[in-house]
Amino acid sequence: MLVLGTFAFPCDTELKPMPITAAGPTHRLYADHVNPQWVRLLDLLDMNVQYEKCVGCELFTHDGARILDFLSGYCVHNTGHNHPRIIAALHAELDRNGPAMLQSHVSDLAGELAARLCELGGSHLRKVFFASSGSEGIETAIKFARARTGRAALLYAQGAFHGLTCGALSLMDNGFWRQGFGPLLSETEAVPFGDVDLLAQKLSDRQFAAFVIEPIQAEGGIRLPHPEYLAAVQELCRRTGTLLVLDEVQTGMHRTGPFLAAHRYGLQPDMVVLAKALSGGLVPAAAVLMTDEVYGAVYTSLQRALVHTSTFSENGLSLRAGIATLDVLEQERLGERAERLGSLLRERLRHQLGGYEMVSDIRGAGLLCGIEFRAPQSLGLRLPFEAFARIHPGMFGQMLVRRLFREENILTQICGNHFMVLKAAPPLVVTEEQIEHFVRALKRQVEFIHSSRSFWADALGLARRALNI
Ligand SMILES: Cc1ncc(COP(=O)(O)O)c(C=O)c1O
Repeated sequence: MLVLGTFAFPCDTELKPMPITAAGPTHRLYADHVNPQWVRLLDLLDMNVQYEKCVGCELFTHDGARILDFLSGYCVHNTGHNHPRIIAALHAELDRNGPAMLQSHVSDLAGELAARLCELGGSHLRKVFFASSGSEGIETAIKFARARTGRAALLYAQGAFHGLTCGALSLMDNGFWRQGFGPLLSETEAVPFGDVDLLAQKLSDRQFAAFVIEPIQAEGGIRLPHPEYLAAVQELCRRTGTLLVLDEVQTGMHRTGPFLAAHRYGLQPDMVVLAKALSGGLVPAAAVLMTDEVYGAVYTSLQRALVHTSTFSENGLSLRAGIATLDVLEQERLGERAERLGSLLRERLRHQLGGYEMVSDIRGAGLLCGIEFRAPQSLGLRLPFEAFARIHPGMFGQMLVRRLFREENILTQICGNHFMVLKAAPPLVVTEEQIEHFVRALKRQVEFIHSSRSFWADALGLARRALNI
């Protein structure tokens, strides 16, 4: 019996080097009918393996390899993969043959989950709109902010990631995500994350319905705000009648320690968007927490009782999973665990990686951690690094991710809008031993990058293969 986090599961699997799994028949169907480019990309990176079972922080492949998950599906698996109590709650919900998708009844489960989210979110957040994805939550925030303020324009922070539906995408300045999908919402504008003066200038003419911001930018490179920044943002928003919308899709649900990252900074936002970890990584769910004033501006009359809704909004499985997820987070004290183990992770990483030329910063909050790399100065490293960068700016980081996966059986990723930052965000049930294992593995790979030509040579070989594909 292997004890993982705070729950145990049977396990007799040895840690084995990664096998390369040939695409099986299901992969062929996927490639034929879903997304062939995704299959090709995973094949190219040697990361296309067949997972059979995922438990806690570990993923088991069909041929017996065990992989440590330090990605959590981009902060979906805060409670660990397939938590037995959340699974049991879902079974119970299915077994009771209760009302589902009637679109004609009042959902008690929605009431119960909303009440708990409001209590955890802070007393000023009194209403909740449920949705199925983070992007849909952001769309909701856009519409509700416009309804509340009567203003059309929206402000957001450079480097943000808010989702890929048209409205959410309009709040992202990275051209990679936007290219080919325009025209998007026209009245949106970006300001640098952390720049109070420019924000004050932008907000002063009271054109913006909302400032939408991640309190800690996740895909932007695990960028933490200056300690006073968000309080100043809130003050400016209040003064100018601009709603403060916090995107806590990655940072919420105790990922950074407290229930919301907003609580780290003593904020009282007008709306908070939650998704990802809300339903234990098992069913799609999102929630937009908001003040009575915001809610009241949308549902203004009987006629408008359903003016903003969605078929799957209050579906029983998501809500039941949400309630069970809150129970697990609370009973296993995963917020405190995130705080304590996150500090340990950063301390150990700083100790082990501090002296390396290419490691420029280790930062984070709770178990949302970033390891930033920089271009090397020494000639021996600079030339191959520059060759990498010419091929693709994400090449270096992706090669590190690949090596961690292939050589160390650890799943990680680089940040989507900052390719020089490796993200370390394990499930909050991670153990001290698993943290130590990750730190030692990363140290080995960083040492390899600094001391072996084969890191660079292998990767350039891979790049040639990619260009030929
Ligand atoms: C901070 C943030 N907001 C919003 C989203 C969009 O969420 P979804 O993919 O569920 O639409 C993401 C997705 O990664 C995210 O990281």
